Amino acid sequence: MNNYLEEQKPTPIPFVEIRNVYKAFPTQPNAQSVPAVQDVSLLIPHQEEGDFVAFLGPSGCGKSTLLQMISGLLPPDKGEVYALGKEVAGPDAQSVTVQQAYTCFPWLSVLGNVEFGLKVHGASGVERRKTATEYLQKVGLGDRLDANPRQLSGGMQQRVAIARTLAMRLPIVLMDEPFGALDAQTRADMQEMLLSLWQAENNLVVFVTHDISEALLLANRIIVFSSRPARIVYDMQVPFERPRPQSLLYDSQFLKLSQVLVGLLKHSEAAFTNSTAKSGN
Ligand SMILES: Nc1ncnc2c1ncn2[C@@H]1O[C@H](COP(=O)(O)OP(=O)(O)O)[C@@H](O)[C@H]1O
Ligand SMILES: [Mg+2]
Repeated sequence: MNNYLEEQKPTPIPFVEIRNVYKAFPTQPNAQSVPAVQDVSLLIPHQEEGDFVAFLGPSGCGKSTLLQMISGLLPPDKGEVYALGKEVAGPDAQSVTVQQAYTCFPWLSVLGNVEFGLKVHGASGVERRKTATEYLQKVGLGDRLDANPRQLSGGMQQRVAIARTLAMRLPIVLMDEPFGALDAQTRADMQEMLLSLWQAENNLVVFVTHDISEALLLANRIIVFSSRPARIVYDMQVPFERPRPQSLLYDSQFLKLSQVLVGLLKHSEAAFTNSTAKSGN
């Protein structure tokens, strides 16, 4: 009986589906376009408890370009991107992005910054204040609500950006190297904070990084990209249970998988060098 009922359940709509996406840019004004993303197809199925997928690849390979195509900020030249079953054809209301740079509005208070994101999404004044305060408390800034972001450190400003993004409670959160500009200790603190926050949400986080340890520590699944043009060279399921403390960085299986990923990234560099050597660039 149970099996019969399960068979009747409709297949959930995937979080994200990317089909044969291609994007090229001219290397100089009026020059011929060179691909930045080539033949990328990827399915991120819906998961009841949410999912955390890392895009790992060398700098300049095309990760941000792909992320911008998921968010609808950049149209693909070829192929299609679907978010929750709907083709992405412009800035998408289902997703929100955290950038690498600290993206606080300096003319608004810390609380105002988080409320602003909610205002865009139509929440009432009382609701905005309540949710914004709750998320700022979650990122450890409950005592800095009235501060100006300029008075805060880089790490704290990025906490505001993360609170603003998660408070919107959108099903898809795109993070483009959000901790790239932070020192090692702040970065470790932020990784831990992000994981504990994410576990309370049921959303999809797509997290771009060029840092192997960061990808392994945070993600359920790592998509490895080649050097420009970004193509998928590996799709890895990360086996570690949660919660994942920073001490996992010294675990023997963690180190083994890091080596596998180092090899894949090196290999993709070599492939890139060979192809540029052949084409005489
Ligand atoms: N708007 C653009 N115009 C021209 N070239 C671009 C543009 N955006 C990105 N590129 C180029 O495309 C390649 C991929 O860029 P990007 O997606 O930012 O890489 P990543 O995020 O992996 O570091 C890079 O060589 C970059 O210089
Ligand atoms: Mg980038």
